[in-house]
Amino acid sequence: MSMKLPFFKNKKTETNTLNDLDNIPQHVAIIMDGNGRWAQKRGLPRVAGHKEGMNVVKNIVKAATNNNVQILTLYTFSTENWKRPKSEVDFIMRLPKEFLHTYLPDLIENNVRIETIGEFGALPEHTKEAIQYAKDKTKNNDGLLLNFALNYGSRFEIMRAIKQVMTDIEDSKLSLDTLDENIFSEYLYTDGLTDPDLLIRTSGEQRLSNFLLWQLAYTEFWFTDVLWPDFSEEIFQNALHEYQQRKRRYGGI
Ligand code: FPP
Repeated sequence: MSMKLPFFKNKKTETNTLNDLDNIPQHVAIIMDGNGRWAQKRGLPRVAGHKEGMNVVKNIVKAATNNNVQILTLYTFSTENWKRPKSEVDFIMRLPKEFLHTYLPDLIENNVRIETIGEFGALPEHTKEAIQYAKDKTKNNDGLLLNFALNYGSRFEIMRAIKQVMTDIEDSKLSLDTLDENIFSEYLYTDGLTDPDLLIRTSGEQRLSNFLLWQLAYTEFWFTDVLWPDFSEEIFQNALHEYQQRKRRYGGI
C-alpha cells in the first residue's frame, strides 16, 4: 500500500535550492509571531491566525527536512502566554493534538522525531497525551528533530537549572570546581542539543521574548516583517541563503 505523504511529496526537488550544502544551519529556532494580527487584518478571530499558523508549521517542517536542517525548535507557547484569554489558551492547547492527528503518519514516514522543551507536566492532560504519544512513536527516528517549545520560558529554565545544580552540589553529585558552561548546559531543557545556528522571528518584532537566552549566545538572527501565517518555504529558504552569507566569528577575528 502506498502511503499519501501530503507535505513531503517531491521532497528532493521542491524547495532545496541552496548551493553551499556544507553550510546548512544544523539547528534553526523560530519565534512564530503575528498570528493574531494576521487574523485581525482579515476581520477574523485571533485563533484563526493560530490555526493558519499550524498549517504553516507543516510547510516549514517539510522545508527544514528538504534542506537537511537537523533540529527545528518552534516557540509554540511561552510561560507568559497563560496571561491570554482562556479561550485563546484553550485553542492553542488543542493545536498539537490536531496537528499530530493529521500529520503524525507523515512525520513517522519521514523519520522525524518529536520532542518538547518547557514545563511539560503543567500542560493540559489532553495536550500531554497527544504529544507523549507522538514522542513515543518517533523516539527512534533519526531524521529532523521537531522540537516544540511549549510552556517554555528561558529565565525559568535557567533558574530551574541553578536550583538543580545547587541540589546536586549539596548531594555531592557535582563539585563546584568542575562546574563549567558545558556542564551547566546539561541542566537546561536543551541538554544534548547543539545551540541554534539561526534564529528567525516573524512579524517585524525584534526581541527575544524570553526564548533560549543562554542558547542563543552566538546565534545568527534573521527578522522578517511577514506575519507567521504568511511565512512560506520560499521565505525559509531565503533565511537559509542569508545565513550562508554571514561570517560567524564567535568573538574571534
Ligand atoms: C504568536 O503570535 C503565536 C503564538 C503565541 C502561538 C503560536 C502557535 C502556532 C503557530 C500554532 C502551533 C502549531 C502547532 C503545530 C502546535 P501572536 O498571537 O502573539 O500574534 P500577534 O503578535 O499578532 O498578536
